[in-house]
Amino acid sequence: MISSVATIAGLREKVADARMAGKAVGLVPTMGALHEGHLSLMRRARSENDLVVASIFVNPPQFGPTEDLQRYPRDLARDLALAAGAGVDVSFCPEPDEMYPPGFATWVEVEGLGERLCGASRPRHFRAVTTVVAKLLDVCQPDRAYFGLKDAQQFVIIRRMVQDLNIPVELVGCPTVREADGLAMSSRNLYLTPDERAQAPALYRALQAAEAAVAGGVRDVSEIKREMNEFLAQATLGDVEYVEVVGTDGLLPVARVEGECLIALAARFGGTRLIDNVFVRG
Ligand code: PAF
Repeated sequence: MISSVATIAGLREKVADARMAGKAVGLVPTMGALHEGHLSLMRRARSENDLVVASIFVNPPQFGPTEDLQRYPRDLARDLALAAGAGVDVSFCPEPDEMYPPGFATWVEVEGLGERLCGASRPRHFRAVTTVVAKLLDVCQPDRAYFGLKDAQQFVIIRRMVQDLNIPVELVGCPTVREADGLAMSSRNLYLTPDERAQAPALYRALQAAEAAVAGGVRDVSEIKREMNEFLAQATLGDVEYVEVVGTDGLLPVARVEGECLIALAARFGGTRLIDNVFVRG
């Protein structure tokens, strides 16, 4: 049975009870509109903890003024049923005022990292993510927190924040879950028209081409990007925002793949912005 709390005090109480009983607590932060990607995080948390908490909170400040805050899919009853099925014990579903009461003025910002890749077109997005995640970690004080690596930049930034602020939590990055045709699962896939949906898997095909090139010994990033472009060009309905090969700590572009690198891209299909990435090692 899943129990649902909407207040910070309510969540603190639930977690305190579990801690008193010596239980390990796992947290899965989400914005709802749950899909198999979220459920894989919840199942993993279930297998590694005694108490599993999932937050379901569409975090307003992480949406830019022209982004999809109003139309972001919300169906709490469906989400709670799915979360319960994946083994979640407690869901935390606060209203925006609970997280950002009147007078709220404190932001947690990881400098530099949040301005790269997606940050270039989403200027205050990552400081809103780190702020809400810092609050969730503070309220829940989990032993482990679970994030999908589809949002690789988000993971790297949260990891930096956790290190810099000495937050005592183990971060668990979980592999991207994909549709049968390779498209990374995302709540935003629902916005795609049938034609856009048919073309969107080209993003992953481009990343697979990059992986194959690296596995075949290619190290030069311009050669890797050339191979990717052949596939990206097939997505005639998509506008590529960026394709970057970066180091996994600083997220700075590299000229050659040496050591672990992240190959990340973002593309817009009409009003829908999709991201995807792979980690490679040269
Ligand atoms: O990845 C997400 O769904 C969100 O960015 C997160 C981590 C729940 C913060 O709102």
